[in-house]
Amino acid sequence: MRKICFYDTKPYDKIYFDLYKEKYGFEIDYFEPKLNSDTAVMAKGYEAVVAFVNDTIDAKTIDILYNNGIGMIAMRCAGYNNIDFKAAFDKIHVVRVPAYSPYAVAEHAIALLLTLNRKIHRAYNRTREHNFSLNGLMGFDLHGKTMGVVGTGKIGRIFVGICKGFGLNVIAYDPYPAGNSDIRYVSFLELCKESDIISLHCPLSKETHHLINQDNLEVMKKGVILINTSRGALIDSEALLNAIKEEKVGGAGLDVYEEETEFFYEDKSYSIIQDDILSGLISMPNVIVTSHQAFLTKEALNNIAEITLQNLTDYFDDKFLENEICYQCIKFNSCDRNERKRCF
Ligand code: NAI
Repeated sequence: MRKICFYDTKPYDKIYFDLYKEKYGFEIDYFEPKLNSDTAVMAKGYEAVVAFVNDTIDAKTIDILYNNGIGMIAMRCAGYNNIDFKAAFDKIHVVRVPAYSPYAVAEHAIALLLTLNRKIHRAYNRTREHNFSLNGLMGFDLHGKTMGVVGTGKIGRIFVGICKGFGLNVIAYDPYPAGNSDIRYVSFLELCKESDIISLHCPLSKETHHLINQDNLEVMKKGVILINTSRGALIDSEALLNAIKEEKVGGAGLDVYEEETEFFYEDKSYSIIQDDILSGLISMPNVIVTSHQAFLTKEALNNIAEITLQNLTDYFDDKFLENEICYQCIKFNSCDRNERKRCF
């Protein structure tokens, strides 16, 4: 059996990895801490590590893993903005799970929108207190409103389909528009100006960092609703908080937050949150924050476990690494993995 270790473990992760580990021939030790330069040494004696979205996989972490014999980082997620790929190149292979359930994330984005618009979060609390008043709970019909979708990849396209079912007029922005689709693409500026609701489904990169900022918040419609299930730093959170205070933004459904690493996935209910922007956002009646949970469905967790263990098996069996990623694949599309079976 090959020995691998698993960082940032939560009970729901273990259920599905334990289900498949024998089938794939792995012995897994589960660690609670996140992977970073302080915890990387715990990987000594293992052949590969399994990591997640809020691990800090910088050059220092990579060097420690490499010097302790790790040849592979298997990300059990789609996003990879937390990895220093240049530092990893020629040292440690990185694989990911590019798609496990786009439905899970798209449906969560819709859940945030419906909850916010129809004030379900407030109604739920009221009726538990036997307060049956409707004052302040008015929403609007989604039918006929304009939904702006930023990023029409796997999740974005599922999301577009659901929106059309509600009778929303969908417009989209993506620098690489989907071929053979009936999606109406517009410029990002046009999307900001025309949309009643904007939902983000693009990756975080240098280009998309603070894609939503003070300048483009200003051109948006008064009362616009923003939904972010992608990555926190797509939005300048301080600018968003100000726009909510000024009543420019009518609501925000946030499954991600730019400084989430310290808080999300942990029980902080006994702590004083030392982040005034996060506290400010959470205190707003028209903001819903969920803790990066859009992926959390049975189907997604099952697929994540199977694909991650298959990625690891392919690596150890010297097979083509279909889900490997390196800085050349991302930046230049010039990786010759097809010839070598792997990125280096
Ligand atoms: P994908 O790679 O299939 O699609 C991303 C799309 O964004 C592509 O069409 C790409 O052309 C587009 N894009 C790239 N740069 C852009 C820009 N500057 N402006 C607009 N669009 C741009 O990715 P997928 O699977 O649809 O996932 C989207 C994002 O969702 C991921 O990057 C990840 O950050 C996030 N995600 C969040 C989860 C959660 O639990 N909250 C779970 C899984 C993914």
